[in-house]
Amino acid sequence: MAIVPFVAGRQLNSSGTVLEVIHLSDTHFGPDHSHDIRGANACDRACTLVKAINELPFDPDFIVHTGDVVNDPDEGAYALAQEILSELKAPVYYVTGNHDDVPMMRAALDFADHELLVPESDDQLCYRIKSAAEDFEFFVMDGKVPEEEGPHGYLSDNQVEAVLSQISGEKPIAVFLHYPLTPIGSKWIDKHLLVSNGEAFHDALAEKAGSQLRGIFTGHLHRGLQLYKNGVLQSGVSSPACEFSAGPHDDFCDFLPGGPIPFNHISFTADSTMVKSYSLPFPGDS
Ligand SMILES: [Fe+2]
Repeated sequence: MAIVPFVAGRQLNSSGTVLEVIHLSDTHFGPDHSHDIRGANACDRACTLVKAINELPFDPDFIVHTGDVVNDPDEGAYALAQEILSELKAPVYYVTGNHDDVPMMRAALDFADHELLVPESDDQLCYRIKSAAEDFEFFVMDGKVPEEEGPHGYLSDNQVEAVLSQISGEKPIAVFLHYPLTPIGSKWIDKHLLVSNGEAFHDALAEKAGSQLRGIFTGHLHRGLQLYKNGVLQSGVSSPACEFSAGPHDDFCDFLPGGPIPFNHISFTADSTMVKSYSLPFPGDS
């Protein structure tokens, strides 16, 4: 039996490199440390998340924050987000959420190494992640629509074309965006929170990427998501600030303040994706 070497916190196997990625989302920072969502302090809860990630017994290759960095886009909120999230030891990539503002994000937040796929002047944050680019093809897409139209998302033609044209079919591929692409089986969420042209993009992505597609990773739902459609994984992580309550038949969603602090640990190899979900106790919760 082959011996699997264990090197610096990661296993190397016959499939090649294991890439360790941390997925977090929806921190909803306010303009100051006291901002809360129905009694849950967003900043304190994000600090608990940062501390936990920094204390992991391995070094993540990078971290992806799938959007809603702040609750309302203003410079103070992004400055606070940068103050807290810059404490993360691993490089961080950010995705636009429906509560975010691209120019403010770009001005305030430190992005890890990336290549823009649409011009910044388009106010869309669509780029290729350059960490581990020699072994993997990872993309960030921006589904934000004008606030009066949201909170559902939409993927512009120029982003769809840009991402699909980058896919070689020779390396494992993953896409990170704020909004799930396809229905999850919740009446309110399926009506209000998906990418409205998500199914078309899902099908086009699956066709172009084929067996190299390792997953689509999202936030926005303020709850965890594990979904397969036509053999393609969609994986979502909840919010450290608050969870949503929308059940399968609900016409509404409510906030569930407090509760555990969530993040996902995704291990990518050349032929697999492993998602490990963590829920940490928040010291302020009784
Ligand atoms: Fe959110």
